[in-house]
Amino acid sequence: MSNLRSNIMAWLGRKYFSRLQKNGFDLSKMSFLPDATLAPLRRDGLDPVADLARTRTKEPISRLPLPFGIKGWLVTGYDETKAVLGRTSGFSSDFTNLAEKNIGIAAQQNPGGLGFSDPPTHTRLRRLLTPEFTMRRLSRLTPRIHSIVEERLDDMAATAARDGSVDLVQAFALPIPSLVICELLGVPYEDRADFQQLSMARFDLFGGADASFGAISDSLSYLLDIVKKQRETPGDGLLGMLVKEHGDEIGDQELAGLADGVLTGGFETTASMLALGTLVLLRSPERFAEIRDNDDVVDRFVEELLRYLTVVQVAFPRFAKEDMEIAGTKISSGDLVLCSLSGANRDERLGPDMERFDPHRQTSSHLAFGHGIHRCIGAELAKMELRAAYPALVRRFPEMRLAVPPEQLSFRKLSIVYGVDALPVTLK
Ligand code: HEM
Repeated sequence: MSNLRSNIMAWLGRKYFSRLQKNGFDLSKMSFLPDATLAPLRRDGLDPVADLARTRTKEPISRLPLPFGIKGWLVTGYDETKAVLGRTSGFSSDFTNLAEKNIGIAAQQNPGGLGFSDPPTHTRLRRLLTPEFTMRRLSRLTPRIHSIVEERLDDMAATAARDGSVDLVQAFALPIPSLVICELLGVPYEDRADFQQLSMARFDLFGGADASFGAISDSLSYLLDIVKKQRETPGDGLLGMLVKEHGDEIGDQELAGLADGVLTGGFETTASMLALGTLVLLRSPERFAEIRDNDDVVDRFVEELLRYLTVVQVAFPRFAKEDMEIAGTKISSGDLVLCSLSGANRDERLGPDMERFDPHRQTSSHLAFGHGIHRCIGAELAKMELRAAYPALVRRFPEMRLAVPPEQLSFRKLSIVYGVDALPVTLK
C-alpha cells in the first residue's frame, strides 16, 4: 500500500506536473494519462467509441493501463458495474484519504462532499441532504423551474430575432441548471458566470489534474463565503435549512464541500443532458410532436435519453479495500477500479439493441445516475428539469433546426461529463 501511495503521489503531485512542464510538455494541450486509459472518456459523436464495446464483449472487467505501476481495472459490463458500485464495504471513494494523506494536496483543494466520502461520514452527510431532495421538498421548485425555462425561451427568441440563430448551450442548457441549483441552495445568482467556468474546468481532464484541483479550490473558497453569510442570516434554501436545523453538527468547511458537490454534480451534467438531448431531437424533428403534450411519452423519452447519452461517462474511481473476486476477476486491495457507465448502459444484458436510441422502450434500470450508496441524490431534480425543458422547447419552437451542418459541431474531448461546446439553432 505504501508503494501505491508514493505512486499516486508521483502521478498526481504538483512536482510531477511542473517537472513535465520544464521538460517541454504543454499540459494545457495534452493529458497526463495513457491513451488506452482515456478510451472510456472518448466518443464518436454521441456514441461511446467502438473499442469500448469490443472490450466489454471480450472482458467486461479488463486491465486499465495506468502510469507508474498503479494497478487499474476498467469495468464496462452492466452486471459487473452494478457489482462494483453496489459493493460498498469492498471499495473506497474517500478523496480525503487519497488527497490529504496520500498525495499531500492541501485541505482546501479537497473537493469534500458526498461523492468522495465513505461510510460512516458519507452516511451522515447523505442523511443531512436527503430531506432536501424528497419529492415533497423538491416540488416547491416546480413553478420556479417552469418559469426559468420560459424565461430562457424568451431570451432565445430575442437572440434569434436579432442574430438569425442562437446557441442553445449558452442561452438554454447552461443557465437552466445553474439557476435551479442556485435556487435549491439559496446561492445568489450574480456570480453564476464564474461558477460556470469553475465547474467546467473542474471536470475537464484535458488541462491535467493541476487545472482541475485549482478549479476545485476556487469554487470551495467562493462557497465558503456563501456559507458564512448563510450562517449569519440563514435563508430558505438548502444551505439555510441545514444551518437552521443542523448548524451545530456541521462545520463551514464541510457545508461548503456539500454545497460544492451539489453544485458541480447538478450543473454541467444537467446542462449536457439538455444540449445533447436537444441534438437527439433535432436529428428526428418528427419526434417534436410526440413529446409535446404527453407526459408518459416524455417520461420514457427522458429515461431513454439518460441511458443513451450517459453524460457522466465514468463513475468516480473506487479503490479496493480488500482482495476480492468480481465476476471471476481477482481484484487486490489498493487496486483502482473505474466503472464505465456509458459502456455498461450499452450492454445487451440491459436489453436488446442498446446501441440504438429508442424512446419507446421501457428502461429504468440504466446506470446513468450510478448505483449503490453514491447513486445520484439529484436524480429526481434532474428529471424534473429535463421533463419541463424538452416539451417547452418544442412547443415554443416547432420549427427549430440546427443552424450548422452536424459535422461542424464540436464535442468535449476528454471530460468526465460529455457534452457539446455549442449548439447553434434557427427557430423559424
Ligand atoms: C442528468 C443529470 C445528472 C446526471 C447524469 C448525474 C449523474 C450522477 C452519477 C453517475 C453519480 C454517481 C457517481 C459515482 O458513483 O461515482 C452522481 C452522484 C451525485 N450527484 Fe448527480 N447527476 C445528475 C444531476 C444531479 C443534480 C441535479 C444534482 C444536485 C442538485 C446532483 C448531485 C449529485 C451528488 C451530490 C452526487 C453524489 C452522491 C453520493 O455520493 O452519495 N446530480 N450523479
